[in-house]
Amino acid sequence: MTKGGTATMAEPAHDPVLAGILGQTLVLTLNTPGKRNVLSPEMYRRLTELLGQARTNPDVAVIVVQGADGFFCAGGDLRALSERAALPVSQREERIEELHRVVRLLRAFPKPVIAAIEGGAAGAGASLAFAADMIVAAEDSYFALSYVKAGLVPDGGATGFLSRALPPQLAAEMALLGERMPAGRLAALGVVNRLAPAGGALDMALDMAAGMARGARQAQTEILALLDAPDRAGFDAQLDREKPAMARALGSAEAAAGIGAFKEKRVPAFPVPTSSDPQRRAAVETDATRMFGVRLPIVAGGLMWLADADYVAAAAKAGIMGFITAASFAEPEALRAEIRRCRDMVGDLPFGVNISMLPKLVEGDRIRQVFELAAEEGVSFVETSGRSPEDYLAITRAAGIKVLHKVSSLRHAVKAQSIGVDAVSIVGAECGGHPGVEMIGSMVNAGLAASRLTIPWLIGGGIGAGAQVAAVLAMGGAGVVIGTRFLVADEIRAHSAYKQALIDATERDTAVGMHTVRNTVRALANDTMRELRQIEAERPDVGIQDLLPLVSGKIARRAYETGDISRGVLSAGQSLGAITETAPLAEIVRELEEGMVAALRRAGGLLAAAAA
Ligand SMILES: Cc1cc2nc3c(=O)[nH]c(=O)nc-3n(C[C@H](O)[C@H](O)[C@H](O)COP(=O)(O)O)c2cc1C
Repeated sequence: MTKGGTATMAEPAHDPVLAGILGQTLVLTLNTPGKRNVLSPEMYRRLTELLGQARTNPDVAVIVVQGADGFFCAGGDLRALSERAALPVSQREERIEELHRVVRLLRAFPKPVIAAIEGGAAGAGASLAFAADMIVAAEDSYFALSYVKAGLVPDGGATGFLSRALPPQLAAEMALLGERMPAGRLAALGVVNRLAPAGGALDMALDMAAGMARGARQAQTEILALLDAPDRAGFDAQLDREKPAMARALGSAEAAAGIGAFKEKRVPAFPVPTSSDPQRRAAVETDATRMFGVRLPIVAGGLMWLADADYVAAAAKAGIMGFITAASFAEPEALRAEIRRCRDMVGDLPFGVNISMLPKLVEGDRIRQVFELAAEEGVSFVETSGRSPEDYLAITRAAGIKVLHKVSSLRHAVKAQSIGVDAVSIVGAECGGHPGVEMIGSMVNAGLAASRLTIPWLIGGGIGAGAQVAAVLAMGGAGVVIGTRFLVADEIRAHSAYKQALIDATERDTAVGMHTVRNTVRALANDTMRELRQIEAERPDVGIQDLLPLVSGKIARRAYETGDISRGVLSAGQSLGAITETAPLAEIVRELEEGMVAALRRAGGLLAAAAA
């Protein structure tokens, strides 16, 4: 290899990363011929492989990263990006994670890494350059966070890096305008270490590298770890914030307009935001809002017969996470159609499928079929309940589906964590539906969860006011799951007499039954529940078969249709006390949000008052 030229190529010319050793410097050359070295999964894989080898190779002291043919890297391939827009959000995130893995590797690399920039470093190409320890740039080169011009947001850690390295106004200028920032301007601010004459960046980087290769290499490794340490957690967290933001942006109408215009080399005409767009900005950030990509840390749990596409689409549009209840559909194809109907209504807003595995609701192979159907339909999230989803996690993992498993006791939450679900929701004794046989209260569950769980956890059962959401967050929870409070939403397809009965009821008007068959249920106190309790009191050894004529879900379905609420187990929890009227779901959610924000402020104010 000659100094100033491209590294000697051991590999064929189309290798996405060319590797050559000069002295003790490994030169990695990004190489996508004719396309300004745009990034690709193959490039990430090759970089990962080469960095892995270099890490333990004693003959490599320093790494220099450059681009082939006089240009560092133009970032993501727009064609690939527009194809990616069609993928479910979770798969978009996986692609972004491929870049993030390389960035993390570079940041944590135990030997010095220098980026040698000729031409330009744009988009994720700039992120890659910023991930190096030092930057040498040709004086006519530039850096550009061009994402915004295509309706996208930066990934690869650029926002984290720039907000630390640059005055805030300049970081904002780069990220918001997306224009070319001359290397000279960044050099004046210390972001670029050295300016080289045009065409001379590699030579200068190699000189720096040779100096370090002759130096105290063990000390360099120690220093790199020390320099990285204070910043590490913050940088990782920023990558985790960028990932869902970029994944969402990729599927947006703005990105469609922006990428299209970019490809055709014309000025994009971005759509004017509609009222649903602000719904995407998180009101608070928790593991749940990040995981689901929703505005609020609220899950609308599955509702047998009631959580259909209309309700779940309303949830998505209101900025919360909703789940179409699979068990409501006798035929798989009907569920498939419902998922598609929902997607048509929400576009790329997130939603999921509830898979209840209570033996009588969905049986045996049918459950597997539902998981497979969810995977085929590109569903990103499932809410499981009733029993362990362990047998089906291979399907969800392969499809990139995140699993929120609902349990009625902390004991089961710990078990669910051990089998690898992504998050748990723990419903307490107050909840509508199945509060579990142990009937532990929600406040107790919330108080104990943080010390027993490391995965994100949500609390359900009796949540009907925003202040309760704030309380769960204050206790370390990632969010809440709600059923009862939403039953009076306009989008719930049920008879007005049923909704009126819920409005009339108070927190004292529920009853608990089926304890004797260890399938405890909390429901609206009505004739059926009174009869059920009487039978159970008189015959503690009664079997489920004897109770079925009373408790069959079909009777509840009829009640929703006819408004005759005297018959059927009509699941409802103690948050009935918080219900005063019917309203669009968005309105109920808005009220919850206001209550949550007010409570969080109140709590913050208590601290401020004490500190004053
Ligand atoms: C009418 C109704 C039907 C429900 N159906 C289901 C269901 O099919 N699957 C499920 O996992 N949870 C179901 N649930 C439980 C809810 O998803 C949620 O966990 C619970 O309602 C939270 O407690 P809350 O009612 O106090 O808000 C149901 C709850 C209600 C009120």
